[in-house]
Amino acid sequence: DWTMAEYRQQAIQAIRDQVGDGKVICGLSGGVDSSVAAVLIHEAIGDQLTCIYVDHGLMRLGETEQVVSMFRDHYNIPLVHVDASDLFIGQLEGESDPEVKRKTIGKLFIEVFEEEAKKLGGADFLAQGTLYPDVIESVSFTGGPSVTIKSHHNVGGLPERMNMQLVEPLRELFKDEVRDLGRELGLPDSFIGRHPFPGPGLAIRCPGGITREKLDILRQADAIYLDEIRKAGLYDAIWQAFAVLLPVQTVGVMGDGRTYEFVCALRAVTSVDGMTADFYHYDMEFLGRAATRIINEVRGINRVVYDVTSKPPGTIEWE
Ligand code: XMP
Repeated sequence: DWTMAEYRQQAIQAIRDQVGDGKVICGLSGGVDSSVAAVLIHEAIGDQLTCIYVDHGLMRLGETEQVVSMFRDHYNIPLVHVDASDLFIGQLEGESDPEVKRKTIGKLFIEVFEEEAKKLGGADFLAQGTLYPDVIESVSFTGGPSVTIKSHHNVGGLPERMNMQLVEPLRELFKDEVRDLGRELGLPDSFIGRHPFPGPGLAIRCPGGITREKLDILRQADAIYLDEIRKAGLYDAIWQAFAVLLPVQTVGVMGDGRTYEFVCALRAVTSVDGMTADFYHYDMEFLGRAATRIINEVRGINRVVYDVTSKPPGTIEWE
């Protein structure tokens, strides 16, 4: 029987024992796991840790700024913020196959990360926010053939290539325990309670080819949708909610003119672990309000639809 406060102290000691006076780098994704790992490691070894945030330009509205300011200003953790959005968006432009998109993003992520790590003069250790379920899953994957529905990217292969050892202080924890540890470390509740967000970001919420313009439209619609969800007090009842920008234009009317703009699909699901999910049953008033705001406030969207598909047979993301 242990408390999170005790776990924190034990984990700090274990990190110190493992790392000694070595240098550690940690890739921040903007998510809870890598953030908790980084804050914990920083508490253990201070400025022997440097974080690298590879900004692929596929984050939600304001998210990069929040992560960067939380780490730099609030926690004083050395952070390299690499704006690689031109590289990522440039290589993704015109690509519409979802798996190719994921692989391209995963490959570029590793390349950019490796280059930045080299600029820092390398490091002895690579920190990762691996959780217990990730550990079990990667073991069972080696046991036999598995069907890949969607490839999830991580920095696999990187530690060996760069001759680094792994530091994984969350390996024994489940997701809800990581959240508890995050609270224990003073991370804001609003950050800890955030819906999961996929590594490839908005690229897989923009079916078909992506462009900067489409990403901007999607970011605005998504922010309005989430704002309405928070205002209605529904955020914590939903596992994941997001907007998808469809590669379809439809006819509409505005004032006395005809419009021809994109369709935005809204998604919201409840789930326990993301493996199965039910679509969220909003009341129609809510959906009408969100749709009206999106169409009025976002130039480029003139129609909004709601996705009533559960998983299975659908997946949570559209790609
Ligand atoms: P699906 O769409 O497979 O999503 O029902 C299940 C959960 O996984 C997330 N997801 C991803 N996360 N990289 C990630 O890190 C990915 O490529 C990816 N694809 C889906 C999704 O957001 C949901 O939480």
